[in-house]
Amino acid sequence: MKKLIEYYNTLAREYDKIYKNKSIEYMRIIEQEILNSEVKKNYLILDIGCGTGEQLNYLRDYNILGLDISLEMAKRAKNKTGKFLFVGNAEYLPFKNKSFNCVISLFGALNHVQINRAFKEVRRVLTKNGVFIFSIANVYNLGWIIGSLKKRGLTKTKRAIEHKKGDIVKYVGGNRIKVNTKFYSIRDIENILKKYNFYIKYTFGTNITNSPLDRVIYKTFLKNFGAYIGAVAIRK
Ligand SMILES: C[S@@+](CC[C@H](N)C(=O)[O-])C[C@H]1O[C@@H](n2cnc3c(N)ncnc32)[C@H](O)[C@@H]1O
Repeated sequence: MKKLIEYYNTLAREYDKIYKNKSIEYMRIIEQEILNSEVKKNYLILDIGCGTGEQLNYLRDYNILGLDISLEMAKRAKNKTGKFLFVGNAEYLPFKNKSFNCVISLFGALNHVQINRAFKEVRRVLTKNGVFIFSIANVYNLGWIIGSLKKRGLTKTKRAIEHKKGDIVKYVGGNRIKVNTKFYSIRDIENILKKYNFYIKYTFGTNITNSPLDRVIYKTFLKNFGAYIGAVAIRK
């Protein structure tokens, strides 16, 4: 946990610079399309792993609170959006049962948690019929698989896919930082959602081609190959 927090505290310094680029442009467009159609004005929303406030800012006209495990991320989100921020862990949400109509967690916070624990918590804090919208790094990310085959070869790539674990590496201020990450398939997330008694409205993929085409294909079979996969699920 300490390493995870250190990684994100360091990344916070350059997060907006690193991620404000063309490589995730269409991921953001898909995220926004989903938020526009699923989030209602009267909802109280919790954003888990809000980072520097990408979604808090996008949903600034809504009643939304942010939570992040990294103080440095939370500070930046607070400065940028003025929203209420909590420093905490998705596995132990500091809220009463049935506090929120909607929980969002976009772009990978849930890749770093004990997924069962976190989904149980999300279920606990959601009202009946509350909406859960999340995205998580995909084990069958085609872009990554092709790059890895070229760089590491077949055996290592196959092993990484089988283990569903790996490192994310970034450079901040010239220093190399890395964090352990777990990866999931659409089948995995469907199973976990069912286990915690969510109704799956739909699953989706983001950053599939990173082009305007993604807007057409993000709910089709091709979602299975996006860099990120996710779901819109309803708490029964
Ligand atoms: C890749 S960032 C995504 C931030 C933002 N949602 C976005 O779309 O830009 C993932 C965030 O999740 C946070 N995070 C990681 N593990 C977490 C946990 N167990 N509980 C809460 N937040 C966590 C990190 O600190 C980081 O800010």
